[in-house]
Order: sequence, then C-alpha cells, then structure tokens
Amino acid sequence: MAVGLATEKQEKYAGRFLRDWLLPQWPWFALGTLFAAVTAACAFGYSYIIAMATDWLEASDQRVFMLAPLVIIGLVAVRAPAMYGQTQANNRGVQNAVIKLQEALFGRLIDGDFARLQAKNSGEYVSQFANDMVLVREASLRVATNLAKSTLTVIAAIAYMLMTDWLLTLVLLVIYPVAFYPVVRLGNRVRKSSRRAQEQAGELTSVLNEAFQGSRTVKAFQLEGYQKDRASKGFIERARLYMKVLRAKALVDPFLEFVGGLALAGLFAFSGWRAMSGDITVGELVGIIAAIGIASPEVRALGTLNSVVNEGLAAATRVYAVIDAPVHVADNPGAKDMGRAVGDVSFDGVSFSYPGASPALNGLSFDAKAGQTIAIVGPSGAGKSTVFSLLLRLYEASAGAVRVDGHDVRDVTMASLRRNLSIVSQDAFLFDVSVRENIALGKPGASMQEIEAAARAAACDFIEGLPSKWDTPAGEGGRNLSGGQRQRIALARALISDSPVLLLDEATSALDSESEARIQQALGALAGRRTMIIVAHRLATVRKADRIFVMTDGRCAEAGTHDELVAHGGVYAGLAAHQLS
Ligand SMILES: Nc1ncnc2c1ncn2[C@@H]1O[C@H](COP(=O)(O)OP(=O)(O)O)[C@@H](O)[C@H]1O
Ligand SMILES: [Mg+2]
Repeated sequence: MAVGLATEKQEKYAGRFLRDWLLPQWPWFALGTLFAAVTAACAFGYSYIIAMATDWLEASDQRVFMLAPLVIIGLVAVRAPAMYGQTQANNRGVQNAVIKLQEALFGRLIDGDFARLQAKNSGEYVSQFANDMVLVREASLRVATNLAKSTLTVIAAIAYMLMTDWLLTLVLLVIYPVAFYPVVRLGNRVRKSSRRAQEQAGELTSVLNEAFQGSRTVKAFQLEGYQKDRASKGFIERARLYMKVLRAKALVDPFLEFVGGLALAGLFAFSGWRAMSGDITVGELVGIIAAIGIASPEVRALGTLNSVVNEGLAAATRVYAVIDAPVHVADNPGAKDMGRAVGDVSFDGVSFSYPGASPALNGLSFDAKAGQTIAIVGPSGAGKSTVFSLLLRLYEASAGAVRVDGHDVRDVTMASLRRNLSIVSQDAFLFDVSVRENIALGKPGASMQEIEAAARAAACDFIEGLPSKWDTPAGEGGRNLSGGQRQRIALARALISDSPVLLLDEATSALDSESEARIQQALGALAGRRTMIIVAHRLATVRKADRIFVMTDGRCAEAGTHDELVAHGGVYAGLAAHQLS
C-alpha cells in the first residue's frame, strides 16, 4: 500500500483496519477490481488503436476513418459502464465497512466504562463520528478505487510501452520513483497536522454544544459576548490548523504538475530522437504519448493517495484508541446472574474517589433490609449520589464491599444487577422521544395500561394537558417540560419496572407540596414490597423512613429513625429543628 513512511504503529492499524472492516466486504471489492481490470484493458486498447490509426494515417490507409472510430466507440462503450460499476461496487463495500466501524465505535463507548464517558467532553466523541469517519471513508474509497483502477491502468500503460519501446520505458521507470519521494514526505506532514486538527475539531464541537445547551444561562447572564469570543477563538484555531493540512496538500498537485512537465519534455527529447533515427514509428511515439496521457492522472491519483491515506490512518488511529481502551468495570470472569433479588442492600466500609479527586466515600457502611424504606440525608457533596453510582456499579469501590442480597456487586453480572435496581437520578434525564416512550423505557414492551398506572402513581396528570398528550416529545434532555414534570416522568419510568430496589436521588425536589404528597402516598403503598433508598433534603420526605442515615464527608455520621435521631441531638436534630419547626 502507498502508505510510505507511516509509523510502524499506524501500519499495524492499517492492517487491522483492512482485516477487520474492509476484508469482510471482499465480494464488493472483488467486483470493483474486475471492473477496474476491464477499464485498464480498455486503456491499453486506446493506446494501441491510437498508434495504429496514426500509422494508417501516414500510409493513407482508409482504415483510419473506417475501422479506428468503430474500435474507439466500442472501447468507450465498454469502459464507461465499467468505470461506473467499479465506483459503485467500491462505494458499497466502503459504506458497509463504515457502518460496521461506526457501530463498533459507538458500541465500545456505550458498553464501556461510565467513567470514560464522563471524562471527555461529549463533543469530542460526537466529532469522531462526524469527522474521523469522513476521513476513514475517503481514505478507504481512494484505496479501493486507486489501488485497483489506477494500478491496473498504469500497469496496462507500462505493458504497452514495454512492448513498443522497452528502453524508453525503463528510463521512465527509473526516473518516476525518485521524483515521487517528496510526495511521500508531504504525506507525512499532512498526517501530523491532521491529527491535531481533528482533536481541535472535537474541542470546538464541545464549546458549541455547551453554548447551545446552556443558552438560558447565556442569555440570562448576558454571556453572548463571552461565548462569541470562545467560539471565535475556536474558529480561528480551526482555520489555522486546517490551513496547515491544506498547505501540505496544496503542494502535492503543483509538484506532480512539475514532474509531469519534466517527463513530457524528456519524453520528446528522448523518443523524438529515437523516432528520427528510425528505432520507432511515428505511430508508436504517438501511442506512447497516449499511454502516458492515460496513465498520468492515475499516477497522480496514486501520488496524492499517500496524503489521503495518512489522514485516514490518523483518524483510524484515534478510532482504535477508543476501541482498544481497556474496560475497567466489566463482568468479572465467573460472574453469575443473580436472578431476581429479594432486595437487601448493604455498604460495608466502602471507600471511593473519582479519578484525580479527593475521596467521595470514606469507609461508608449502611444497610437496608428487603422491603424497608431507608433515607440518606446530608449536605450536598457528602457523597449521596455517589452511593447510587456505586450500587449500580457505574464505578468500582476502592475498598469495602457493596452488596445486593448478600452478593458482592462484583460477583454478579452487571445486567442482572441493574435489572434489580431502578433509579430516578438527580438530573431526571429524559430522551427526546414522546413522554409515553420515556416512561416505557423502564420496562421494554410495557402495555399502555402499565404506562398509565405508573404515570398515575407518579402524579403525571399534567400529561393530558400537554400539546400532543402522551405523544408530546420531551425535547433534548427533557427541556420541553418543567423540572417537576421531568421528575415525575422519570419517577414513572422507575416505577414501571417492578425491580425490587428503587433508588430516588432528590427525585421530588422540584415538586410542589401537593404533587409530592401524592407521590409519598403512592410510594407508601409500595413499602414492604420494594426496598426504597431515598435521598432528600426535605425532612418531611424522609421522616417516615424505617431508618435514616446521615452522611457527612463520605461516611455515615448518625443512623436511626426520625424520633431516635431527634432525641440523639446531633446533626439531624439540628436540621429537624431548623426545617420542621
Ligand atoms: N464525576 C465526578 N468527578 C469528580 N468528582 C466528582 C464527580 N461527581 C461527584 N464528585 C465529587 O464527589 C463528591 C460527592 O459528590 P456527590 O455524591 O454527587 O454528592 P451529593 O450527591 O451528596 O451532593 C463531591 O465532592 C463532588 O465534588
Ligand atoms: Mg447528589
């Protein structure tokens, strides 16, 4: 392959890319190559008939206007459809490969570690799908097209030339590779600048996303100017980096033009002299020029192939960096399906720190027996949401054990663990599908009756008043709905699955007291049948819990019932005095 001086690592990726994605599409590429061979054979035919016709013309042979035009029309009639067929076959093969690659990339991301999804700006991943895939597609198409068509056409031209004048051909074959060395060098420059340009494209996507998503804050705080500055810096940097890539690429064509011109001059000097001395006929000279004329664009395409392939390789390297990244939180070997849990939950001396941060949990212990309602209260930043993340095994504890039904969460499959837990998380995230679908996501294949029952329990009567009722789209992240409406849909989504453990993270914080009271009632009806762990700031929400754990600084400071804790006279008693007076 015309990869030239690509690094060893990139050559490895090129090999993997061919094997993993392009090879499975081999029937399409085989078909493309077949058409390419026909195209190349016709090119050989052109040179041949041009040479013949010239000699016929010189000899005043009638075949020049009778036979030659027919042969040329015949050649075109075969070559044009073959060119079309080749392009289409290659397109199909490459598109299929890119679909598979996108699926693999997305699958690795979405199946992989939660921590990784959180670590980068989302824009950088989105940009990989937008930009890197285009580069990979372009490079694959060029390889598929040029390797077959251009190589075969050049080979056909060389074959014709060798048959006609081997000495001249040998001279050309020695000069050309030397002339091409600088093109390979340019390709490497393209690859280097392309890598940085793509990284920056991802950063820019993030900045733009943030400005649009945070448009309310932007407007309210009059941050338009600030956002424009940020975006403008990004645009300028993008243009600067892109110019670097284009500059290296822009040198390729003029350089090839220059080489081509030299070659033509040399050709006339050398073969003109050979024709004069009678070593070749005028027809043969014209045939050679025709062959070079046909081969030149193909040689040129092969020359620029290097830089396109280098860009594609840089993109493939980034894609593979994601695909190859080790997954840290995965099913352990021998992890078993825990089946349906009874609903005991316990944390036993659990510690955990987010990457590069101080400990969020610090030897936390608490437990909930099946069917109990327990509450976790504490100041923000105490680690309450982190408790749920560890229970769902989005992250792994660095010390201690998280157990469900006595099983360490590391010993069971993540699918069976998460089937037993349903959560209303603090952000009450909704997808931009109908409210009906948003609720149904909690239980695949849920009937309308089940959806309505869950919605009723979550006090979702506002749905009937929405513009399209149950079919109203929630908007990106749920922004067509109010905070309280979003929370109620998210609650319905959690209630519809009959998982034995229900986790509510400040799930009613945005509700009016009437809706909250109704939800309390609905949840009260579940008590005894489901384990509920409720995080809330309003003590009215948690005072009926079987047990309340007060968290500070990642550990449990106090535990007991509402009355016990008030009597104890600690942190909770202070909160209670403040809130419930
Ligand atoms: N994704 C994260 N990366 C780094 N630190 C985090 C992340 N999420 C939370 N933290 C930190 O962990 C601590 C506990 O957070 P959290 O569990 O959300 O608290 P709470 O829910 O009690 O308000 C806080 O100090 C917070 O800054
Ligand atoms: Mg929280």
